[in-house]
Amino acid sequence: MQSPDRPIAQSPNPSSNRLITQLPDDLNAFIARLPKVELHLHLEGSIRPQTLRELAEGKSWLKGKVADWIGERTRESYRYGSFPKFLAAFGLVSLLLEGPEDYALITTRLQEWLAEQNVRYAEITLSAGVILWKKQSVEATFEAIAAAAEEAEDRCGVRVAWIFDGVRQFGVDHVRQVLGFAGRFRSHGVVAFGIGGDEARGPAALFTDLYREARDMGLHVTAHAGEAVGPASIRAAVELLGAERIGHGLTAAQDPAVMALLRERRIPLEVCPTSNVSTGLLARFQDHPLPKFLDAGLAVTLNSDDPAMFGTSLQREFELAAAHFHLSNRQIGDLSEEAIRAAFLPADRQQALLTELRLAAQAAEIPGTSLGPQA
Ligand code: ADE
Ligand code: ZN
Repeated sequence: MQSPDRPIAQSPNPSSNRLITQLPDDLNAFIARLPKVELHLHLEGSIRPQTLRELAEGKSWLKGKVADWIGERTRESYRYGSFPKFLAAFGLVSLLLEGPEDYALITTRLQEWLAEQNVRYAEITLSAGVILWKKQSVEATFEAIAAAAEEAEDRCGVRVAWIFDGVRQFGVDHVRQVLGFAGRFRSHGVVAFGIGGDEARGPAALFTDLYREARDMGLHVTAHAGEAVGPASIRAAVELLGAERIGHGLTAAQDPAVMALLRERRIPLEVCPTSNVSTGLLARFQDHPLPKFLDAGLAVTLNSDDPAMFGTSLQREFELAAAHFHLSNRQIGDLSEEAIRAAFLPADRQQALLTELRLAAQAAEIPGTSLGPQA
């Protein structure tokens, strides 16, 4: 149960572990046991230092680059100073991936990490647009990823599905190619199509036709929106693109009409608070409007975005949110439930995850929760 005097972190520094050690043991244990679902997680942003070192094994030309990369992240405490600087860093880490085997390795290591956090299902974003930009083969890369994912699913018990992401500032023709690949691999685990990158340099209106085509292909559609740009971008993603979920949606808090739109249409937000601190969009974790979103009745899911680039994990985002926003166990469970309901999964798989969650809630004796004993 929530302790009323739960201590709050003095520092929002995502690389600091102080907050976690201050949390009551029962809360940490509850979060650790909670079956979790992650919906906003970039494969290329999930490469931890040990995996980078593994990638560089036997490749003398990569060793120095990897050491520089790790050193810089540590020195800068996983902060990038500005959103464009973060995007540049994302491009750089993607360049360390030289071919399909590298993508396969990072997929395996990500699933193992998710298993450690009791993440039961994840929709992982692959920046297919970045693979095109590097002039690598999207087909060969995704075939290697899918084979690695299948092996890790059986071994670790973490099911995954894929979202192919286009880079919006690269323009419509580029993003159209990404959509083509998403459609082609739809029967091989790609459930959705989305756009990421620089919202300011690739407004939603450019992609209206592409999103219609994506829906016609039977793909789900998402979009990063209201991350580094104001709430009008969220409205455009909903009204012009038909986005079924919004990546971040941070600036919705600035416009009550956009909040109302999200509530009325039940569009879930994939919030990623540590990401927003690391990319310089928020000064501190506790400045995230997550509590305001919950109070307004929005569907909120909690996510780690590019966890290795931000020194976080989904487990840690739950711990930080619980501590900074004084969330009760019930509210923590509700975040997990929203993610299950917002997942692009068939109804029977959603029900199975909801049952798992209900059992975990019962074991933790959460009273009066929507997750409590079934009627
Ligand atoms: N690509 C990887 N992470 C991203 C983010 N947080 N926003 C936009 N594009 C991204
Ligand atoms: Zn993202």
